[in-house]
Amino acid sequence: MLHDIGYTPSLATTGFHPLDGARYLRDRSAADERLVRLVANHSYALLEAEERGLHEELEAEFPILDHAELVDALVYCDMATTPDGTPTTVDARLAEILTRYDRDSIVGRFIRRADEDLRAAVHRVEARLILAERYGRARRSVDDHEDLGPVWSCDQGCDPRCRIQRRPAHNSSPAW
Ligand SMILES: [Fe+2]
Repeated sequence: MLHDIGYTPSLATTGFHPLDGARYLRDRSAADERLVRLVANHSYALLEAEERGLHEELEAEFPILDHAELVDALVYCDMATTPDGTPTTVDARLAEILTRYDRDSIVGRFIRRADEDLRAAVHRVEARLILAERYGRARRSVDDHEDLGPVWSCDQGCDPRCRIQRRPAHNSSPAW
């Protein structure tokens, strides 16, 4: 995925892929600033930057985007996908990272420090997805008269509950 573009060997100048990737996108791709800042700070990169002595550099060049839902969404995508693109869980993803890096390495220390924040971001997105699904179902229910049953037979002499009256071009045919 694009957020890990900094792993590309030819772009690796600091060896810290969020910073290398963001600099490439900013300086050589004229990418949208929001995208660049998302890449620079993906999955709590500031914590890893601290481990690498690059915290101030990262923060000064690429402030965290002031859009918490978007920042969480990228964490979710990162934590829900294995390095080869297979869907996974946050538990499996974090465990898998720690099989590739020593616990006391830079990445190992970072992942252990970021564990709680990464899980919390994933859970916030999951909660938003559940709410969105429920909201979508409720909207479809209203739009499709699922909750009104026999009202389908009405022909503008509607049952008082018939919400189809609120549509500008009301007729007796189902909307789909
Ligand atoms: Fe990454």
